[in-house]
Amino acid sequence: MPANAFNGQTDYGIGLGLRVPHYVHILEKKPDVAWFEIISENFMCGGGRPLEVLDRIMEQYRVVQHGVSLYFGSADKPDREHLRRLKALVKRTHTPWLSDHLCWGSVDGTYTHDLLPMPYTFAAARTTAAKIRMVRDFLEVPICVENVSSYAEFHASEMTEWEFLSEVVELADCGILLDVNNIYVSSRNHGFNPYDYLDHVPHHRVGQMHIAGHTKFEKYILDTHDHPVLDPVWKLYAHATRRCGVTATLLEWDDRIPSFDEVHAEALKANEFIADAKNARKKPAPPRPRAA
Ligand SMILES: [Fe+2]
Repeated sequence: MPANAFNGQTDYGIGLGLRVPHYVHILEKKPDVAWFEIISENFMCGGGRPLEVLDRIMEQYRVVQHGVSLYFGSADKPDREHLRRLKALVKRTHTPWLSDHLCWGSVDGTYTHDLLPMPYTFAAARTTAAKIRMVRDFLEVPICVENVSSYAEFHASEMTEWEFLSEVVELADCGILLDVNNIYVSSRNHGFNPYDYLDHVPHHRVGQMHIAGHTKFEKYILDTHDHPVLDPVWKLYAHATRRCGVTATLLEWDDRIPSFDEVHAEALKANEFIADAKNARKKPAPPRPRAA
């Protein structure tokens, strides 16, 4: 795969996030899972049990790296020591691409450990794209940037979130990790139509999708990853797979994690929508569903 393109070649099937409560089950039962997504930062430790487990997992499964600390949208330059350790892990896993978030989270070397929303300006798009290119060139691996869920917006924004995402990935010439649940959460919090988002991102750049559960509160929705995927998100996922083609799909379940079998069964529900998308591609496009 070239370092800057995906071209619909990520039909890897349904993956799961590799989480500590499931280690023993996976190593002993060897369940039939297409691939695992790992959080890079959990394995940038130089040795010990995390890497022992990872090496055993890699004997059986394809592994794709996902990160939470590159902060492509921060004005800071990437930390070179962090990038060196990340590159060592990339060489170890042979990840086919590496994803991290379209957000900021650090100022002058102080890290918030939050995925903060960006001002959607042309200047921010240029800065962010330059950083993505810098990271990709150093790591020598294709990059996918993920849209985050958000709870605040900037008056300074000059475009919509999907226009900003599109601008960044075109300037960076990189892929998209399209988090369908995040689109739904942000659409409800900010009052936009999530189908407009899905219809206007560059579909050929979508290399992976995330689905997850969220929690509804009286005045907002929170991206909690602590229960099954809700119906409006499945409807969006169905639309996304019809528009983008079938891509590697990953269920995120990070809190109140149930048994491995329960998480796996929830993730495999995506196969129904993938099959529908493959059939739909042979027929004229249906009208898009109304936003929930
Ligand atoms: Fe995600």
